[in-house]
Amino acid sequence: MRVYEKRLDVKQHVADLHKQKKSIGFVPTMGALHQGHLALVKRAIDENQVVIVSIFVNPTQFNNSEDLINYPRTLESDIALLSKVSDDIIVFAPLPKEIYGEETKSIKYDFKGLENEMEGKFRPGHFDGVGTVLKHFFTIVSPTKAYFGEKDFQQLQIVRKLVTIEKMSLEIIGCPIYREESGLALSSRNKRLSQKQLQASPLIYKTLNQVKNDFGTKSVKNLTDWITEQFKNNDLLELEYFEIAKVSNLKSIRRKRKDTKYRAFIAVFAGEVRLIDNIALN
Ligand code: PAJ
Repeated sequence: MRVYEKRLDVKQHVADLHKQKKSIGFVPTMGALHQGHLALVKRAIDENQVVIVSIFVNPTQFNNSEDLINYPRTLESDIALLSKVSDDIIVFAPLPKEIYGEETKSIKYDFKGLENEMEGKFRPGHFDGVGTVLKHFFTIVSPTKAYFGEKDFQQLQIVRKLVTIEKMSLEIIGCPIYREESGLALSSRNKRLSQKQLQASPLIYKTLNQVKNDFGTKSVKNLTDWITEQFKNNDLLELEYFEIAKVSNLKSIRRKRKDTKYRAFIAVFAGEVRLIDNIALN
Protein backbone atom coordinates (compact mmCIF):
# COMPACT_ATOMS: atom_id res chain seq x y z
CA MET A 1 0.00 0.00 0.00
CA ARG A 2 1.43 3.38 -1.05
CA VAL A 3 0.23 6.37 0.94
CA TYR A 4 1.01 9.83 -0.43
CA GLU A 5 0.48 13.17 1.27
CA LYS A 6 2.05 15.46 -1.33
CA ARG A 7 0.43 16.34 -4.63
CA LEU A 8 3.79 16.37 -6.44
CA ASP A 9 4.49 12.77 -5.42
CA VAL A 10 1.11 11.69 -6.79
CA LYS A 11 1.65 13.66 -10.00
CA GLN A 12 5.02 12.00 -10.52
CA HIS A 13 3.65 8.52 -9.93
CA VAL A 14 0.69 9.24 -12.24
CA ALA A 15 3.03 10.54 -14.99
CA ASP A 16 4.91 7.22 -14.83
CA LEU A 17 1.63 5.30 -15.06
CA HIS A 18 0.55 7.32 -18.10
CA LYS A 19 3.91 6.60 -19.76
CA GLN A 20 3.23 2.90 -19.25
CA LYS A 21 -0.26 3.46 -20.74
CA LYS A 22 -1.94 2.14 -17.58
CA SER A 23 -5.58 2.97 -16.94
CA ILE A 24 -6.23 4.72 -13.62
CA GLY A 25 -9.44 4.31 -11.61
CA PHE A 26 -10.03 7.02 -9.01
CA VAL A 27 -12.31 6.87 -5.96
CA PRO A 28 -12.55 10.18 -4.08
CA THR A 29 -13.69 9.88 -0.44
CA MET A 30 -13.72 11.77 2.83
CA GLY A 31 -12.61 8.68 4.75
CA ALA A 32 -14.42 6.91 7.61
CA LEU A 33 -14.65 4.18 5.02
CA HIS A 34 -17.41 1.55 5.01
CA GLN A 35 -18.58 -1.20 2.68
CA GLY A 36 -20.34 1.38 0.46
CA HIS A 37 -16.99 3.04 -0.28
CA LEU A 38 -15.31 -0.34 -0.67
CA ALA A 39 -17.89 -1.38 -3.28
CA LEU A 40 -16.72 1.59 -5.41
CA VAL A 41 -13.08 0.62 -4.84
CA LYS A 42 -13.75 -3.00 -5.88
CA ARG A 43 -15.51 -1.85 -9.04
CA ALA A 44 -12.56 0.45 -9.84
CA ILE A 45 -10.15 -2.47 -9.34
CA ASP A 46 -12.19 -4.61 -11.75
CA GLU A 47 -12.18 -1.96 -14.46
CA ASN A 48 -8.69 -0.42 -14.23
CA GLN A 49 -5.03 -1.40 -14.01
CA VAL A 50 -4.28 0.95 -11.12
CA VAL A 51 -6.58 2.39 -8.44
CA ILE A 52 -6.10 5.60 -6.47
CA VAL A 53 -8.30 6.40 -3.44
CA SER A 54 -8.25 9.89 -1.96
CA ILE A 55 -9.08 10.43 1.71
CA PHE A 56 -9.69 14.09 2.38
CA VAL A 57 -12.26 15.82 4.58
CA ASN A 58 -12.87 18.75 2.26
CA PRO A 59 -13.41 21.95 4.31
CA THR A 60 -15.05 23.95 1.49
CA GLN A 61 -18.05 21.64 1.15
CA PHE A 62 -19.14 21.97 4.80
CA ASN A 63 -21.59 24.78 5.36
CA ASN A 64 -21.66 24.00 9.07
CA SER A 65 -18.33 24.36 10.90
CA GLU A 66 -19.42 22.01 13.70
CA ASP A 67 -20.15 19.29 11.15
CA LEU A 68 -16.63 19.76 9.74
CA ILE A 69 -15.04 19.49 13.20
CA ASN A 70 -17.14 16.44 14.11
CA TYR A 71 -16.59 14.58 10.83
CA PRO A 72 -14.83 11.29 11.72
CA ARG A 73 -11.15 11.10 10.81
CA THR A 74 -9.93 7.51 10.91
CA LEU A 75 -7.01 7.36 8.47
CA GLU A 76 -5.26 4.35 10.03
CA SER A 77 -8.31 2.10 10.06
CA ASP A 78 -9.26 3.35 6.57
CA ILE A 79 -5.85 2.26 5.26
CA ALA A 80 -6.22 -1.09 7.04
CA LEU A 81 -9.64 -1.62 5.40
CA LEU A 82 -8.30 -0.76 1.96
CA SER A 83 -5.30 -3.06 2.35
CA LYS A 84 -7.71 -5.93 3.01
CA VAL A 85 -9.26 -5.27 -0.40
CA SER A 86 -5.89 -5.01 -2.17
CA ASP A 87 -2.32 -4.11 -1.28
CA ASP A 88 -1.84 -2.40 -4.64
CA ILE A 89 -4.17 0.53 -3.98
CA ILE A 90 -2.56 3.96 -3.93
CA VAL A 91 -3.90 6.25 -1.19
CA PHE A 92 -3.72 10.03 -1.43
CA ALA A 93 -4.38 11.66 1.94
CA PRO A 94 -3.30 15.31 1.75
CA LEU A 95 -3.64 18.18 4.23
CA PRO A 96 -5.91 21.07 3.14
CA LYS A 97 -2.89 23.29 2.39
CA GLU A 98 -1.66 20.76 -0.16
CA ILE A 99 -4.91 21.10 -2.13
CA TYR A 100 -5.85 24.74 -1.54
CA GLY A 101 -2.55 26.52 -0.81
CA GLU A 102 -2.82 29.42 1.62
CA GLU A 103 -6.45 30.30 0.84
CA THR A 104 -9.09 27.60 1.33
CA LYS A 105 -11.66 28.90 -1.14
CA SER A 106 -14.31 27.54 -3.53
CA ILE A 107 -14.72 28.31 -7.20
CA LYS A 108 -18.22 29.64 -7.95
CA TYR A 109 -19.77 27.21 -10.44
CA ASP A 110 -22.83 27.42 -12.63
CA PHE A 111 -24.11 23.85 -12.75
CA LYS A 112 -27.17 24.96 -14.77
CA GLY A 113 -29.54 24.85 -11.83
CA LEU A 114 -28.59 21.38 -10.57
CA GLU A 115 -26.91 23.04 -7.58
CA ASN A 116 -30.09 24.84 -6.49
CA GLU A 117 -32.30 21.77 -6.01
CA MET A 118 -32.71 19.57 -2.90
CA GLU A 119 -29.35 19.35 -1.10
CA GLY A 120 -28.40 22.71 -2.64
CA LYS A 121 -31.35 24.40 -0.92
CA PHE A 122 -30.40 23.03 2.48
CA ARG A 123 -26.61 23.26 2.15
CA PRO A 124 -25.69 26.58 0.49
CA GLY A 125 -22.25 26.56 -1.17
CA HIS A 126 -21.90 22.81 -0.70
CA PHE A 127 -21.67 21.91 -4.39
CA ASP A 128 -19.19 24.70 -5.17
CA GLY A 129 -16.96 23.05 -2.54
CA VAL A 130 -17.46 19.60 -4.04
CA GLY A 131 -16.80 20.89 -7.58
CA THR A 132 -13.68 22.77 -6.48
CA VAL A 133 -12.06 19.89 -4.62
CA LEU A 134 -12.82 17.45 -7.45
CA LYS A 135 -11.38 19.81 -10.05
CA HIS A 136 -8.15 19.87 -8.00
CA PHE A 137 -8.16 16.09 -7.51
CA PHE A 138 -8.93 15.29 -11.16
CA THR A 139 -6.04 17.56 -12.19
CA ILE A 140 -3.60 15.88 -9.81
CA VAL A 141 -4.72 12.26 -10.29
CA SER A 142 -5.58 12.53 -14.01
CA PRO A 143 -7.75 9.39 -13.91
CA THR A 144 -9.21 7.39 -16.79
CA LYS A 145 -12.41 6.78 -14.81
CA ALA A 146 -13.72 8.16 -11.50
CA TYR A 147 -16.31 6.35 -9.36
CA PHE A 148 -19.23 7.90 -7.46
CA GLY A 149 -22.14 6.41 -5.53
CA GLU A 150 -25.77 6.94 -6.49
CA LYS A 151 -26.28 7.41 -2.75
CA ASP A 152 -25.40 11.05 -3.48
CA PHE A 153 -27.24 11.15 -6.79
CA GLN A 154 -27.32 14.94 -7.04
CA GLN A 155 -23.55 15.02 -6.47
CA LEU A 156 -23.10 12.41 -9.22
CA GLN A 157 -25.06 14.54 -11.72
CA ILE A 158 -23.12 17.64 -10.70
CA VAL A 159 -19.79 15.85 -11.17
CA ARG A 160 -20.88 14.89 -14.71
CA LYS A 161 -21.63 18.57 -15.36
CA LEU A 162 -18.30 19.65 -13.78
CA VAL A 163 -16.37 17.47 -16.19
CA THR A 164 -18.04 19.12 -19.20
CA ILE A 165 -17.61 22.63 -17.74
CA GLU A 166 -13.91 22.01 -17.06
CA LYS A 167 -13.50 20.08 -20.36
CA MET A 168 -11.83 17.19 -18.57
CA SER A 169 -11.46 13.91 -20.39
CA LEU A 170 -12.34 11.33 -17.79
CA GLU A 171 -15.32 9.02 -17.54
CA ILE A 172 -17.66 9.34 -14.55
CA ILE A 173 -19.09 6.02 -13.37
CA GLY A 174 -22.19 5.92 -11.14
CA CYS A 175 -22.44 2.93 -8.77
CA PRO A 176 -25.53 1.50 -7.02
CA ILE A 177 -26.37 2.33 -3.41
CA TYR A 178 -24.92 -0.18 -0.96
CA ARG A 179 -27.38 -0.97 1.84
CA GLU A 180 -27.54 -2.73 5.21
CA GLU A 181 -29.74 -5.80 5.25
CA SER A 182 -32.36 -3.58 6.90
CA GLY A 183 -32.37 -1.37 3.79
CA LEU A 184 -30.58 1.56 5.46
CA ALA A 185 -28.08 3.08 2.99
CA LEU A 186 -24.56 2.86 4.39
CA SER A 187 -23.13 6.22 5.44
CA SER A 188 -20.27 7.42 7.64
CA ARG A 189 -22.95 9.22 9.66
CA ASN A 190 -24.75 5.97 10.61
CA LYS A 191 -22.14 5.42 13.34
CA ARG A 192 -23.70 8.33 15.22
CA LEU A 193 -27.17 6.74 15.37
CA SER A 194 -28.45 5.42 18.71
CA GLN A 195 -29.79 1.86 18.89
CA LYS A 196 -33.35 3.18 18.77
CA GLN A 197 -32.68 5.47 15.81
CA LEU A 198 -30.98 2.59 14.02
CA GLN A 199 -34.05 0.43 14.57
CA ALA A 200 -36.33 3.18 13.21
CA SER A 201 -34.15 4.03 10.17
CA PRO A 202 -35.28 1.23 7.78
CA LEU A 203 -38.52 3.21 7.39
CA ILE A 204 -36.65 5.48 4.94
CA TYR A 205 -35.95 2.77 2.34
CA LYS A 206 -39.23 1.00 3.06
CA THR A 207 -41.24 4.10 2.18
CA LEU A 208 -39.08 4.81 -0.89
CA ASN A 209 -39.75 1.27 -2.10
CA GLN A 210 -43.48 1.69 -1.55
CA VAL A 211 -43.38 4.92 -3.59
CA LYS A 212 -41.62 3.02 -6.38
CA ASN A 213 -44.30 0.32 -6.30
CA ASP A 214 -47.15 2.86 -6.35
CA PHE A 215 -45.56 5.27 -8.82
CA GLY A 216 -47.45 3.84 -11.80
CA THR A 217 -50.89 4.18 -10.23
CA LYS A 218 -50.81 7.10 -7.77
CA SER A 219 -50.34 10.84 -8.25
CA VAL A 220 -47.24 12.69 -7.09
CA LYS A 221 -49.36 14.61 -4.55
CA ASN A 222 -50.81 11.38 -3.24
CA LEU A 223 -47.38 9.82 -2.80
CA THR A 224 -45.96 12.96 -1.16
CA ASP A 225 -48.89 13.17 1.29
CA TRP A 226 -48.49 9.49 2.11
CA ILE A 227 -44.75 9.84 2.86
CA THR A 228 -45.36 12.95 4.99
CA GLU A 229 -47.92 11.01 7.01
CA GLN A 230 -45.55 8.07 7.59
CA PHE A 231 -42.93 10.34 9.14
CA LYS A 232 -45.44 12.41 11.10
CA ASN A 233 -46.33 9.21 12.91
CA ASN A 234 -42.71 8.53 13.81
CA ASP A 235 -41.11 10.07 16.92
CA LEU A 236 -37.52 9.26 15.99
CA LEU A 237 -37.35 10.38 12.36
CA GLU A 238 -38.17 13.84 11.08
CA LEU A 239 -38.72 14.41 7.37
CA GLU A 240 -36.73 17.32 5.93
CA TYR A 241 -37.76 16.91 2.30
CA PHE A 242 -39.28 14.37 -0.05
CA GLU A 243 -39.28 15.07 -3.78
CA ILE A 244 -39.98 13.25 -6.98
CA ALA A 245 -37.70 14.77 -9.60
CA LYS A 246 -36.65 14.39 -13.20
CA VAL A 247 -33.30 12.61 -13.48
CA SER A 248 -32.11 14.96 -16.25
CA ASN A 249 -32.37 18.28 -14.35
CA LEU A 250 -33.38 17.19 -10.80
CA LYS A 251 -36.36 19.54 -10.86
CA SER A 252 -39.23 18.28 -8.72
CA ILE A 253 -42.46 17.55 -10.54
CA ARG A 254 -46.17 17.75 -9.86
CA ARG A 255 -47.24 15.59 -12.77
CA LYS A 256 -45.63 12.63 -14.54
CA ARG A 257 -44.93 12.63 -18.26
CA LYS A 258 -44.37 9.72 -20.60
CA ASP A 259 -40.81 8.78 -21.61
CA THR A 260 -39.23 10.71 -18.74
CA LYS A 261 -37.00 9.18 -16.09
CA TYR A 262 -37.82 9.98 -12.47
CA ARG A 263 -36.26 9.40 -9.07
CA ALA A 264 -37.54 9.95 -5.54
CA PHE A 265 -35.26 11.77 -3.09
CA ILE A 266 -35.51 12.02 0.68
CA ALA A 267 -33.69 13.67 3.58
CA VAL A 268 -34.53 12.75 7.17
CA PHE A 269 -33.20 13.80 10.56
CA ALA A 270 -32.66 11.15 13.22
CA GLY A 271 -31.93 13.52 16.11
CA GLU A 272 -28.88 15.51 14.94
CA VAL A 273 -27.94 13.01 12.24
CA ARG A 274 -29.04 13.82 8.71
CA LEU A 275 -29.71 10.83 6.44
CA ILE A 276 -30.33 10.98 2.68
CA ASP A 277 -31.49 8.33 0.26
CA ASN A 278 -33.04 8.02 -3.20
CA ILE A 279 -34.52 5.46 -5.58
CA ALA A 280 -35.12 5.10 -9.32
CA LEU A 281 -38.87 5.10 -10.01
CA ASN A 282 -39.00 3.98 -13.63
P1 PAJ B 1 -17.99 10.48 0.91
O1 PAJ B 1 -19.23 10.86 1.61
O2 PAJ B 1 -16.86 9.90 1.70
O3 PAJ B 1 -18.38 9.47 -0.24
C1 PAJ B 1 -17.42 9.02 -1.15
C2 PAJ B 1 -18.14 8.27 -2.26
O4 PAJ B 1 -18.76 7.10 -1.72
C3 PAJ B 1 -19.26 9.11 -2.91
O5 PAJ B 1 -19.24 8.93 -4.32
C4 PAJ B 1 -20.51 8.52 -2.29
O6 PAJ B 1 -21.68 8.67 -3.10
C5 PAJ B 1 -20.10 7.05 -2.16
N1 PAJ B 1 -20.95 6.35 -1.16
C6 PAJ B 1 -21.14 6.66 0.13
N2 PAJ B 1 -22.02 5.81 0.71
C7 PAJ B 1 -22.39 4.94 -0.26
C8 PAJ B 1 -23.30 3.83 -0.31
N3 PAJ B 1 -24.00 3.44 0.75
N4 PAJ B 1 -23.43 3.17 -1.49
C9 PAJ B 1 -22.74 3.56 -2.59
N5 PAJ B 1 -21.88 4.60 -2.61
C10 PAJ B 1 -21.71 5.29 -1.47
O7 PAJ B 1 -19.09 12.15 -1.31
C11 PAJ B 1 -18.06 12.52 -0.76
O8 PAJ B 1 -17.39 11.76 0.15
C12 PAJ B 1 -17.41 13.86 -1.09
O9 PAJ B 1 -18.41 14.78 -1.43
C13 PAJ B 1 -16.34 13.76 -2.21
C14 PAJ B 1 -16.94 13.30 -3.53
C15 PAJ B 1 -15.19 12.84 -1.79
C16 PAJ B 1 -15.74 15.19 -2.46
O10 PAJ B 1 -15.16 15.68 -1.30
